[in-house]
Amino acid sequence: ITECCTVSLWLSERTVLFCRWVFVWEKGYQETDSVVSSVTTKAKGVTVTNTSTLGFRVWDVADYVIPAQEENSLFIMTNMITTINQTQGLCPELPDKTTVCKSDANCAAGSSGVHSNGIATGRCVLFNGTVKTCEVAAWCPVEDDTHVPDPAFLKAAENFTLLVKNNIWYPKFNFSKRNILPNTTTAYLKSCIYDAVTDPFCPIFRLGKIVQDAGHSFQDMAVEGGIMGIQINWDCNLDRTAALCLPRYSFRRLDTRDVDHNVSPGYNFRFAKYYSDPTGTEHRTLIKAYGIRFDIIVFGKAGKFDIIPTMINIGSGLALLGVATVLCDVIVLYCMKKRFYYREKKYKYVEDYEQGLGGEMDQ
Ligand SMILES: *[C@@H]1O[C@H](CO)[C@@H](O)[C@H](O)[C@H]1NC(C)=O
Repeated sequence: ITECCTVSLWLSERTVLFCRWVFVWEKGYQETDSVVSSVTTKAKGVTVTNTSTLGFRVWDVADYVIPAQEENSLFIMTNMITTINQTQGLCPELPDKTTVCKSDANCAAGSSGVHSNGIATGRCVLFNGTVKTCEVAAWCPVEDDTHVPDPAFLKAAENFTLLVKNNIWYPKFNFSKRNILPNTTTAYLKSCIYDAVTDPFCPIFRLGKIVQDAGHSFQDMAVEGGIMGIQINWDCNLDRTAALCLPRYSFRRLDTRDVDHNVSPGYNFRFAKYYSDPTGTEHRTLIKAYGIRFDIIVFGKAGKFDIIPTMINIGSGLALLGVATVLCDVIVLYCMKKRFYYREKKYKYVEDYEQGLGGEMDQ
């Protein structure tokens, strides 16, 4: 009997602990809902560059944020290869294994490879003083992107800032809030910069700090580009006051970068600006842009007391206690040494009813 009590007690204790865990930690008494959110962003910062091709140039938000607005995301150009003043015409290809030629016989007219800048004309022409390459019909001169500027062209982007405005809504509880908290003043918002320790609720982020908090170097990332995630977590217990429902920010680099396998790293794309000269000839400036895309990821769940999950959890807790009794019986009746004794005590054996009846009729 004592053994049985020990087992039974132990099981009940576990069950109670489990129920408590469901209730206290997993908040089994709450109805939950997941977040609905909208995000807008605004970048700020200017820098200046001075190069031989572009001269003295100031870069502001309209120059480096491409496109001007996106959903939950923002691209900041940090590096670029510019090919100015291209026109439609004939010019030599960039020299590589397939384009270097000795005579016209090496160039098939009308051909174009996946990596070509244009359609071959079938002629072999001088690329520079010594090298000859196949001539192509293309936007000329063709882009030379063999050398990516390092350090990055707009390396000052490290000090640019990003304001993230985030509105959230929990539809089941009709609860909404935004990440610019009610006690924030305009003056504070003008001067604050997010810092996990000193300013955890400032919605303005320094780009360099975002990358640094994710464990990477901004200047390295700026050269080839990449993707950063700004995660906003809204875990709210709505049984408590709404002021305690606060956003928590974390940062993560989303394009995985293998040190050993660094093939086609980063993030870049091309775009062009078209214009016409007074004679009507079309020109363009081709830009291969490298940069960091900031994706804003909002997640979270809210919980609030509700009678239905409470009843369901209490019900299943009681059912579990029932299971403990059954388990105890199984152990006692089938597994223990004294099981025959227990069985005798638990079940009362009765005489066969019909046999007894038969005896009576015989008499
Ligand atoms: C960013 O600002 C800090 C302090 O104002 C300055 O020391 C640093 O050189 C700046 N970084 C870049 C890349 O310009």
